[in-house]
Amino acid sequence: MKVAVVTGASKGIGRAIAEALAKEGYSLALGARSVDLLEEFSKELEENYGVKVLNSHLDVSDPQSLKEFAGAVLQEFGGVDLLVVNAGIPMGGRLDEVSDEDMERVFQVNALGVWRTIKLFLPSLKERKGTVAVVTSYISTMILANAGAYVASKWAARAFTKTFQAENPEVKFIELRPGMVDTYFYGRPGRKIEEGFMKPEDVAELLVALLKLPKHVLVEEVLFRSVY
Ligand SMILES: NC(=O)c1ccc[n+]([C@@H]2O[C@H](COP(=O)([O-])OP(=O)(O)OC[C@H]3O[C@@H](n4cnc5c(N)ncnc54)[C@H](OP(=O)(O)O)[C@@H]3O)[C@@H](O)[C@H]2O)c1
Repeated sequence: MKVAVVTGASKGIGRAIAEALAKEGYSLALGARSVDLLEEFSKELEENYGVKVLNSHLDVSDPQSLKEFAGAVLQEFGGVDLLVVNAGIPMGGRLDEVSDEDMERVFQVNALGVWRTIKLFLPSLKERKGTVAVVTSYISTMILANAGAYVASKWAARAFTKTFQAENPEVKFIELRPGMVDTYFYGRPGRKIEEGFMKPEDVAELLVALLKLPKHVLVEEVLFRSVY
């Protein structure tokens, strides 16, 4: 049975990806800060799809939390085939107005969190010739006024992803670059396709399709959005 790790699995895109992978029969290790949500969700997945699910508190901005999470996952499953690096936070504001604390926070989660997560699971992924899917954003090569801290953190996440790929050819790195997705990212979900939003399930469906491509095919990145 293949083992997948999903960070930020309590809500939104991570949750939809976890469910899609459960449907595909993956054993799962799910991490996020909202342990109550994770606990309930894990039970649901185990009951509905008969898969094994480990869930654990995880704060990707905290190196110790990540270390403990990775240790628990590797001890439980012995290795990892697929790592979905998804946990992330929004951050708005002009660059000349964003506080040091906010800049630090968004980089700890969206950039350093990505680097640390991949680094910790890399030995196992190399051993199993696994796959890493990193959810960056359509914005990871673009500029957007009033969101500079977020945008720069996603450029950094992209750079980490591409550099890991260059240094580790035996592992496949896929950068997922969605446009707007209806999640808690924009407050409470409930936005429509007509407003330019995809559903989190759309991102999950895309990833599952990519995972079914022949072994010798590497899709380095996918930039995708809603049309209506
Ligand atoms: N929604 C969009 O339009 C959109 C577009 C492009 C890219 N993205 C990216 O997609 C990813 C998922 O976002 P989403 O849209 O699904 O938003 P969401 O509904 O707010 O979900 C974010 C997930 O990340 C987790 N998370 C946040 N900070 C964390 C931390 N420090 N440690 C561990 N987990 C953490 C949250 O769980 P807890 O709060 O329980 O920790 C939650 O499960 C993010 O990287 C985001 O940048 C989103």
